[in-house]
Amino acid sequence: MSKLWGGRFAKQTDSLVHQFNASIGFDSRLYDEDITGSIAWANGLLKAGILTESETETIITGLEQVRNEFAISSFEFAPDDEDVHTAVERRLTEIVGEVGGKLHTGRSRNDQVATDFRLWVRRACNEVQTWLVDLQQAMIANAETNLNLPMPGYTHLQHAQPITWGHWLLSHFWPLVRDRKRLEQVHAQAGVLPLGSGALAGTAFPIDREALAAELGFDEISQNSLDGVSDRDFAADFLYASAMLGLHLSRLSEQLILFSSSEFGFVRLDDSYSTGSSLMPQKKNPDTLELTRGKSGRLIGNLTGLLTTLKGLPSSYDKDLQEDKEPVFDAFDTLGMVVPVMAGLIRTLQLRPERMAAQLEPSLLATDLADYLVKKGMPFRQAHGVVGQVVALAEEMGVALTAVTLPYLQSISSYFEEDVTAVFQIKSALENRSVTGATSPKALNDQLNEAKKRTGR
Ligand code: ARG
Repeated sequence: MSKLWGGRFAKQTDSLVHQFNASIGFDSRLYDEDITGSIAWANGLLKAGILTESETETIITGLEQVRNEFAISSFEFAPDDEDVHTAVERRLTEIVGEVGGKLHTGRSRNDQVATDFRLWVRRACNEVQTWLVDLQQAMIANAETNLNLPMPGYTHLQHAQPITWGHWLLSHFWPLVRDRKRLEQVHAQAGVLPLGSGALAGTAFPIDREALAAELGFDEISQNSLDGVSDRDFAADFLYASAMLGLHLSRLSEQLILFSSSEFGFVRLDDSYSTGSSLMPQKKNPDTLELTRGKSGRLIGNLTGLLTTLKGLPSSYDKDLQEDKEPVFDAFDTLGMVVPVMAGLIRTLQLRPERMAAQLEPSLLATDLADYLVKKGMPFRQAHGVVGQVVALAEEMGVALTAVTLPYLQSISSYFEEDVTAVFQIKSALENRSVTGATSPKALNDQLNEAKKRTGR
């Protein structure tokens, strides 16, 4: 067995060091990008006059065979394969013979891995977008069916003002719009090609880097070869976007856990999205939501882990950079579970309108009562105080806010008149809020349409 870099070494690598050094255990999932990058590089070498037409063809055919072996899981790893790059080259050379050794001309694993990883992250961004679109569609479908279903709205988790289920659910839709925008930005940030940077100083062969970028679908080429091989901002960007998305789903989970509790009972999770207890026969637990909330911790951990790895590094390549891949793969795999699971959970979620209605108590209308006085000409600050007195009186009398009769109201303020009964309705409280983003049926309908517009790809 020999290493591809073994020429100057008199001794074999210690076996533990080999294990420690190797990244093949996780970076073989870059095989497709590695081979795509290598094919572009072979074409670049051809144009630069380093490979002949027939050598290039041989190399590309060989690389496609290696790609296929990986794709059908028949690729056999050798004990000395250190990472995906050395494994692909080793196998290529077995297939095509000595000419395989020409592929690495003017290239380093440093610009190679930076290129592969960018290609991978760009593809990952597209995939997460697809999962997100599906989740957004699930939310829209549910919101549309229950757009005007009244429920109490909360601040500080205390009853605040009436809202509707559609309004509430869409409040968790818009963060996903921002997540998708962030992923677009990551995709763009990753679209700078480092290939041609060599180990650090730039390749010594007349490679047309712009042509490489065009072939590989990059938008531009890196302008400094040392930065080219060490820039992992795009990986951190991906992890930040993942952490934010995880955090958004965690917040949604938390609220649904609360809403599915016996105390709230606003929703019931479908059996297929909940789990039981090994001890307590009556239990139906929201494990899916709890895991989603829990996994946001590891998404945040992946981000802080990579940032910590990067923060002390000089420019150019250092082996620390090999630590960039696992957190990104883990974030991607985690999102690949939490996003589709949430979509399914929303699609199967059952609502319990009667439980929401039972919580629509009159004090939710206190603001509307103050607004009524304002419309009668009272300054809002004064109206706030007057309604505060009405609330206190209702409490003292042990009746609901809406049960305080006109004479009592008038004993507090002469601004109260017969028409006050009209404000004591959930329906009018909802309808009165018609600005963009608010809770009236018309505003909600507009919001839903806007949400639909933002969901296309
Ligand atoms: N496996 C390495 C990584 O992921 C590839 C680059 C190795 N470069 C080197 N100079 N040892 O970073």
